[in-house]
Amino acid sequence: MSDQHSPVGILDSGIGGFSVARQARRLLPGENLLYFGDGAHIPYGNHDQDTIVALARYMFRFMEEHEVKALLVACNTISCVLDRCADGVSCPAFNAVQAGADAVSRLEAGKVGVISTVFTHNSRIYPQKILARSPRTAVVLSCGCPDLARLVEHNLGRPEGMAQVDENLRRELDRMVLEDKVDCCVLGCTHYPLVADRIRRLYPGLPLIDPAEEMARALKAYLDREGLANPQTSPGKLTVYTTGDVAEYALRAQQVGLERINKVEYYPPMIL
Ligand code: DGL
Repeated sequence: MSDQHSPVGILDSGIGGFSVARQARRLLPGENLLYFGDGAHIPYGNHDQDTIVALARYMFRFMEEHEVKALLVACNTISCVLDRCADGVSCPAFNAVQAGADAVSRLEAGKVGVISTVFTHNSRIYPQKILARSPRTAVVLSCGCPDLARLVEHNLGRPEGMAQVDENLRRELDRMVLEDKVDCCVLGCTHYPLVADRIRRLYPGLPLIDPAEEMARALKAYLDREGLANPQTSPGKLTVYTTGDVAEYALRAQQVGLERINKVEYYPPMIL
C-alpha cells in the first residue's frame, strides 16, 4: 500500500527521464524519487511496438514492487503504447506525450514542430493530441530522429560527442525551423531537453516546449488534491536503478544538475 511517504516513480529508456526528475525536484523538493532507466535496451525508439510494450511492462512491475504512489512515464515512446499496457500500473500515471500536448494548448502557436524518436513520429500521436487540444493550431510538423537519443545518452560532457549531437540536430531540424518556420518546437523525447542549450544556440529565438514541466505540474496538482504530498521538510531522496552502466548513470546525473543522489544501483534487464 502506498501513502504520503511512498516514492514517486520515474521511468525512461535511459537517462532522458533525468530531465523530468529535474523538474519534479524543482517543483516537489520534498518527494522521494525512484528512477528506472533501461540502459540495456536503449534506444526504444527503434524497437517495434510489441517489444516496447514488453519492456514497459517490465519497468511497471518494478515500480509496482516498490509501491510508488504515482508514476511519471518520462518516455514519450512508451507513452505512445500506454493504452496497450496501462493495466500494468495501479497508481496514477502521468505521461510525457499528454503533457507535451497540454503545454502546447497554453500557447498561441499556429504551426507547431515536434521532434521525437522514430517510433513516436510514426505513431502520429503528437499531431493527433495537439490538434485535439489546441483549436488555434493549424499544422503540426513532426520529425523522427533515429540517432539523437542515443547520441545524447552517451555523449554528454564530451566535446567531440556534442559536436555530433549538433550535426545531428542540424540534419533533423534545419528544414522544420529554417524553411518551414515552425512557431515553436516540442521536445518530444526526454533526452532532448538535456541538450536544450545546444538547440537554443543553433536556433536562437525558437521557443522550445519541454513536457517535463507540465508533467511535474500535473503531478503536484494530483498529490496536493489527494493529500498525498510528502510532508517532510528535508529534501527528498533520488534513488536511481539502471539496467545499464551504473558509473555512467551517476556521472550523467551530475552532469545534468541532479545532485544529492541517494544511490545508483544495477538492476537486471529483461531478456529479449
Ligand atoms: N527518452 C525516450 C523518449 O522520450 C526514448 C529514447 C529512446 O530510447 O529511443 O521517447
